[in-house]
This record gives sequence, structure tokens and C-alpha cells, in this order.
Amino acid sequence: MTTPIEQRFLDQHPGSAHRHETARSLFPNGVTHDARKQNPFQLYYTHAEGPAKYDVDGNRLLDFFPGHGALILGHSHPDVVKAVQDQMAAGTHFSGSTDLEMRWGELVRELIPSAEKVRFHSSGTEADMMAIRMARAYTGKTKVIKFDDHFHGWSDYLSAGGEGIGGIPAETLSTMIVLPPNDIETFEQKLKEDDDIAAVILEPTGAHMGANPILPTFLEQLREVTERYGVVLIFDEVVTGFRVSKGGAQSYFGITPDMTTLAKILGGGLPGGAVTGKADIINMIEDHPGDAEYNRYRRIAHNGTFNANPLSAAAGIKCLELVANTPVNDTADARALQLKNGLNDLLSKMEIPGCATGISSLMFLRLGADHECDKEYCILTPEHAAQAGNAVRNQQLNLALLNHGVHSGNRFILTASHTEEDIDFTVDAFEKALTEVRDQGLV
Ligand SMILES: Cc1ncc(COP(=O)(O)O)c(C=O)c1O
Repeated sequence: MTTPIEQRFLDQHPGSAHRHETARSLFPNGVTHDARKQNPFQLYYTHAEGPAKYDVDGNRLLDFFPGHGALILGHSHPDVVKAVQDQMAAGTHFSGSTDLEMRWGELVRELIPSAEKVRFHSSGTEADMMAIRMARAYTGKTKVIKFDDHFHGWSDYLSAGGEGIGGIPAETLSTMIVLPPNDIETFEQKLKEDDDIAAVILEPTGAHMGANPILPTFLEQLREVTERYGVVLIFDEVVTGFRVSKGGAQSYFGITPDMTTLAKILGGGLPGGAVTGKADIINMIEDHPGDAEYNRYRRIAHNGTFNANPLSAAAGIKCLELVANTPVNDTADARALQLKNGLNDLLSKMEIPGCATGISSLMFLRLGADHECDKEYCILTPEHAAQAGNAVRNQQLNLALLNHGVHSGNRFILTASHTEEDIDFTVDAFEKALTEVRDQGLV
């Protein structure tokens, strides 16, 4: 049976409904990214500016999932638009080197503490694949540790432990070790038992962009233990890089990993990725003239048509210059705090269990979880996680929010373009949406 929230969603989005019907025969599930699947259908967008995007039915939506986290400046920042337009006219690919790639690489090195050398890629998935390959080549060891539910793109190795691992050889998965996060004893025990471990990789603020937090003390312990055992520590800063602070999570927590992967904000809204870190490790790509044995068996060959492509470089440079020289992060953080406080007050007012939590400009709503937390590093028990993960309620809330002009779900990625008024609008939209969800008996 169609709920009142669903009915309004259908009424408000006929153009998207129509497109979805066609798309279902064209794309698996009718979408081009798993995270864009939405029941009953995904919205289709035409344009965007600052904090808002517009769908084909003319609805304006405040965007709290801007560019899957890539757009810390908001949509279509005029300086980035100009840089890309100028570069488009000047040339998009020279099959050779540019000053742009130099400036882009220098900005990475200026901002990210672990960055001694840099190699560009086209996505976060690629950067993460390369990072573990470099760690393996550098140490001569085979296995890599990752943590439960941490996401590192869709490569064969790093999909280990996740959903949807069809087609990955068991031999590949057997080289990956998946451990619980925030448990240094189990981690160290594994290193004691197995001397074939090259690296450990993690999302430094926690799984799903920090939704299931890593405790800062665990990061400190990881740094100490990996140093002691000679295991390469990789921070996947694809989301947190240039966001959690100008210098990413590593600056925020004051812990320098051996290697860092970057993407999203790095490309200023266009595709881009990078692996960076200790020069000795990144140099596994360099050849050793005259050493055929090394070049064949130890060196890592790395091509990639769009590595450091001029358009992404132009956008990335402009974005990183704004991050470096203007209070982009402070503004996004302030808006996140305003939203977090606003939603926590609203939950109290409406007597709905749950909390809004998170650090910096990444915020998460844990609806239904009736528990105490510090609203920053909110770690749920399995029972509370099940309450927060109630799929039926969350789907209805998500649709109700879209009906009221907010695209967020339970995760909020803030930008420097969101205004204080946008946050007030969002809290109002939540009050309306939660009231409707309550009317359906779901909270
Ligand atoms: C932490 C993390 N690592 C890696 C990736 C993969 O990046 P990409 O989508 O650019 O391949 C993502 C994507 O969301 C991510 O969140």
C-alpha cells in the first residue's frame, strides 16, 4: 500500500518517475552508482548552485550529499567554474606534463602532513588499489588488514568483508584480513601471529565517512603498534582529506600515517585521486636504470590516461587554494555544528530517541537509538545500531525530507556554501518530516 509520504513523493516527482522507467532497462537497478539506488526511484537533476540542486520537476533541494562528499565549496563555485572553462579552451589533454600537475602536487604536499611524494589517479578506488600495492611491493609482504565495514572503493582486494563480492577470486580475498575496529589487542595479536602483513588501511574517522567512529586513542595505538612491527599505516582520506581539517584527519588528530589516499575534494568536483606518503614507498613506481631484474619484478608499473588531467588539475588547484587560504573548513564545520545542535534540540522537543553526532563537517543522525553519547564519537551497541538502521522508517523519512526540499537521509556532508538560513530551513524540514513519519506510526 502506498503511504501518504510516498503518495506525495509520486505527485511531486512525475518527471523522475518517468525517467526511472526508461532507466531500468538501460542500467542495473536503473542507476549508475549503488549509493544512488532509492525506493521507489532516484531523482533526476538538471543543475545546481551553492548548497542547492534542482530536479527535472523543478523542485529545489538543499544538498547534504554534495558530490558524494567531493564538493566542500558547494556546487559550481564561480572560481572553479572559471578555472575549468579557461582550461577547457586551453586544452584538456597534452599526453605530457604541465605546470598544473606541479602546482596540484605541491598543494597536496603543503596541506597533507604525510605527503612527501605524490602520484595522481582518477578516483579513490584507484588510489586505494595503488596504496596497498605499493605497501606490498615496498615490504615484500602479501597481506593487508582492513576493518569491518570500512569502505575503500570497489577493487577486488579492498571489497573483502563487504557486500557484493561476486566475481572476486577466493585467492585474492584470502590475502585480506578484516578485523573489528577500536580493538588494539586483536590487531596486535594478528601481527604477532602472522609476519606476512604489509599494511593496514582504514577510514581514519570511521566506517562510512565516520558514521561508525574510530576512537582517536585507537589511531594513536595503531600508529605506535604499526611502527613497532614495521607495518605500513595507510589513512584512506578520500573523504576526510581537506575536509576534517585543511590537512585531513591526520592534521586533526595529529597522527601522521606512512601513506595517505586522496580523492573527492582533491579534484574540486572533477574526477581525481592521489596516493601520497613516504617518498621511499611512493618511489616503488620509479625505475632503477640498468637493473632489469628490479624493474621487472619489484617496480610497480603505473599508467592511466587521465592521471593528473589538466581539467581536474585546474579544478583541484582552485579548490585546494581556497581550502588553504580561506576559512572554507571553519564555515562548513560551523554549519555542521549548528545543524547537529538544531537536530538534537528537535529530537528532545519531539521526545524522539536518537542523536545527531559527528565531527567537523560530517554529521550523522541515529534515530531510535535511545542511549547516551558525547555527540562526536557515538559508538552504537548492536541493539542500538539495529534501532538506528530501521530501514522502513529511514526510507519514509528520506522520502519525506525530499518532499520538503532536503536531500540528506541520515548522513549530512556540509559545505562552505550552506548558510545559517539553510540550516534553519533544514531543521524545519526535519520537524515536518518527522511529524509525518510519526503520523504513520514509525517513530
Ligand atoms: C573512504 C572512501 N575510500 C574510497 C572511496 C572510493 O572513491 P571513488 O568513488 O572515487 O572511487 C570512497 C568513496 O566514497 C570512500 O568513501
